[in-house]
Amino acid sequence: MSCGLGHNGRPLAKHRKGDVVSNESLANLLKEERRFAPPAELAANANVTAEAYEQAKADRLGFWAEQARRLSWATEPTETLDWSNPPFAKWFADGKLNVAYNCVDRHVEAGHGDRVAIHFEGEPGDSRAITYAELKDEVSRAANALLELGVEKGDRVAVYMPMIPETAIAMLACARIGAAHSVVFGGFSADAIAKRIEDADAKVVITSDGGYRRGKPAALKPAVDEALRRVENVEHVLVVRRTGQPLEEAGGTWTEGRDVWWHDAVGRQSAEHTPEAFDAEQPLFILYTSGTTGKPKGILHTSGGYLTQAAYTHHAVFDLKPESDVYWCTADVGWVTGHSYIVYGPLANGATQVMYEGTPDTPHQGRFWEIVQKYDVTILYTAPTAIRTFMKWGDDIPAKFDLSSLRVLGSVGEPINPEAWMWYRKNIGADNCPIVDTWWQTETGAMMISPLPGVTETKPGSAQRPLPGISATVVDDEANEVPNGGGGYLVLTEPWPSMLRTIWGDDQRFLDTYWSRFEGQYFAGDGAKKDEDGDVWLLGRVDDVMLVSGHNISTTEVESALVSHASVAEAAVVGAADETTGQAIVAFVILRGGADAADDEALVAELRNHVGATLGPIAKPKRILPVAELPKTRSGKIMRRLLRDVAENRELGDVTTLTDSSVMDLIQTQLPSAG
Ligand code: WT7
Repeated sequence: MSCGLGHNGRPLAKHRKGDVVSNESLANLLKEERRFAPPAELAANANVTAEAYEQAKADRLGFWAEQARRLSWATEPTETLDWSNPPFAKWFADGKLNVAYNCVDRHVEAGHGDRVAIHFEGEPGDSRAITYAELKDEVSRAANALLELGVEKGDRVAVYMPMIPETAIAMLACARIGAAHSVVFGGFSADAIAKRIEDADAKVVITSDGGYRRGKPAALKPAVDEALRRVENVEHVLVVRRTGQPLEEAGGTWTEGRDVWWHDAVGRQSAEHTPEAFDAEQPLFILYTSGTTGKPKGILHTSGGYLTQAAYTHHAVFDLKPESDVYWCTADVGWVTGHSYIVYGPLANGATQVMYEGTPDTPHQGRFWEIVQKYDVTILYTAPTAIRTFMKWGDDIPAKFDLSSLRVLGSVGEPINPEAWMWYRKNIGADNCPIVDTWWQTETGAMMISPLPGVTETKPGSAQRPLPGISATVVDDEANEVPNGGGGYLVLTEPWPSMLRTIWGDDQRFLDTYWSRFEGQYFAGDGAKKDEDGDVWLLGRVDDVMLVSGHNISTTEVESALVSHASVAEAAVVGAADETTGQAIVAFVILRGGADAADDEALVAELRNHVGATLGPIAKPKRILPVAELPKTRSGKIMRRLLRDVAENRELGDVTTLTDSSVMDLIQTQLPSAG
């Protein structure tokens, strides 16, 4: 197979000759000596013990075959993995099941119909509790409505929705009839919707008039209308009424015959629908990931293996006890986190969960903690970007609420800086909740590397060990596994049940992007290191590693060093072209508590020295630029590419995936002398 391809199929930068991470920088991580043992009571009653690692190691496929039995199969699979045509995997191929039946009906049949599946909390303060019995009726009605609209097994349905229960109902209704959904995040533009509808050839779009964001109704249907002026394939648009805003006022149109209201089309259906059993490899959904360049990749996930791993990891990593826990994942259903850990994993496990529509600071900055208090949330799953925002808002905000119900805290989306981890543990977890830092990707479908809350002695900033049944390691440029203490590229060395099956309509791109960099191994695109215990520390995307005077330095590490200073709330670090050193480190920082140090040369000097003292002189940023905001994608990831443009005095690249494109204007006006 060809070599030298980056994560996006682009050649890796020429300068990246050695390991991704130099020994100088490796030494730093070994300085993190804080360790936190699992609480004794949790460990004593944990769903999963250390034995699971042994069991999976002795018989990996047997282990997954056993996990598949967590699901209800119409036909039990006899074959676990078909890897005869790698990397195109088939898991549990001769088994048959219905995913929606597994997420809903079987809990009702088991006598849990009265259990709340979803506590919905709307941004304006409206709330709704939906039991499993009610969910079964709603999903059945929606499935009947989709059938009436002509959706058939194997078709694709696009979903463009706010965070309301109908979004999960729509996804489950598709699954119930064997149609694949393609959820498009509600913050994306008409253009993004059109491209995704076209690529997936979707027949029906499910949307709503809008949802509530930051105290106001935000319209969605008009963007669908605009998208549908450009694509032909769509026969019907099913519209949920959420905000009640007049459509025309928001710039939309109602197309008779094409558009139908959910409350009409779904409302009049029977609540009876017999789920059909589909093959384990029946496509369940397509979810587009943008990557940094090129057209979005339609990541394809199928049914039996995906649901097995989503359910197992949700049970194991959160130690979920469905009878007593109240689980809350703060992600949007538009991201894979929402697919696997709002819809499929928790519902397959019969969990009671909270679903929140809006933003964390509406109407006040304590909204999340108020929700934890209101519903006695026991398990909270959120992202480092949110945690750093809460740090910035101040410790006194969560302190006003009773968070004593919490028992497990999760993190996902990017490396969590050790200081953010410590803040989360102390201010949200009262110093007694294990933190599970879960590494995975849209492509992996479910968690891959994470502590187990009743087993692992946790280390702030490390995702630690591949989960039982998962094989991952760190390799150098030549695909040699690095020893403990070494750094390089994260790879997955054995297939896993919830792996992507391909890129929709583009097998070659699937091969090129993930399987061509290292023979026979899945290249995740992330840099990582192993500490002396063999625990994994993620270092961010390899495209973000800097080369300074011949030393590879990870942006994540410099950012963590900056955030460990009391004055810094958030940091984004980039390598900017530099005549003498190849690349120079440029740091953009948001100061804590709104301190304005734009002129404060003393603080900037102090921060440079702080990084020097933490990581070594080579890692001292050449420039540190205090800013009010950082450019982030809608999933909360810092867009370093744009900051590199600023640092190198270039015209800005594509800003369409930014949450708020005015952030870049703000940064540029703040930094007339950036270059
Ligand atoms: C990329 C995948 C996983 C669902 C949300 C993001 C980064 C994710 C971690 C973590 C360090 C992490 C990686 C990965 N990432 N979780 N716990 N520690 N990095 O899904 O948008 O497909 O992004 O997010 O860089 O490759 P995604």
